[in-house]
Amino acid sequence: MLTLLLVLSAAPVDQAKAAVNPFKKNLKEALFKALETSPEAALDVCSQRAPELAKAASSPAVTVGRSALKLRNTANAPKPWLATAMAELAKEKSGTEASRVVVLPDGTVGYAEPIWLAPPCLVCHGKTLAPGLEAKLKAAYPNDAARGFEAGDFRGVFWAEVKPQKP
Ligand code: HEC
Repeated sequence: MLTLLLVLSAAPVDQAKAAVNPFKKNLKEALFKALETSPEAALDVCSQRAPELAKAASSPAVTVGRSALKLRNTANAPKPWLATAMAELAKEKSGTEASRVVVLPDGTVGYAEPIWLAPPCLVCHGKTLAPGLEAKLKAAYPNDAARGFEAGDFRGVFWAEVKPQKP
């Protein structure tokens, strides 16, 4: 019985990774596919599909999302536990598969892993943007701070919160 229980209740970190992985994969696939059409099409993926995919990857027990130190959309601002974890992850060597796990006072487990910028991301997060794209971004995000990056830079995190399991 005990073994069965252990199997049924996967460790919170495994639950977090299992939720973050499809979010990460589906978002990247959708984004890169849209980029083949146009940066404008990809814009919709980042602004509309991303929250949808985050919702799809979430469940009553696990919530996932994206956040960053330099934000484009303030709706992605980090919660306090995440701000600390993210500041630490930002100091890791570019490209490493680091992660942070934080246990909150109510037993919720927070999980975060870094996002390193790949060259195609620079179309919308780099130093110089195509004029049409620039105008669209400016209109949608007047306080955009997610610009001027280089490939390999720390862009932010994928995060998950796993609710405490009832005994
Ligand atoms: C076509 C333009 C475009 C491309 C290409 C793009 N992004 Fe974004 N990115 C956006 C937009 C627009 C937002 C704001 C989304 C929102 O409103 O939630 C955003 C938001 C983000 C966020 C959430 C934090 C924030 O600042 O709001 C992260 C993290 C991020 N992008 C990482 C990446 C990475 C990594 C890549 C490459 C794999 C990438 N982006 C490629 C346009 C783009």
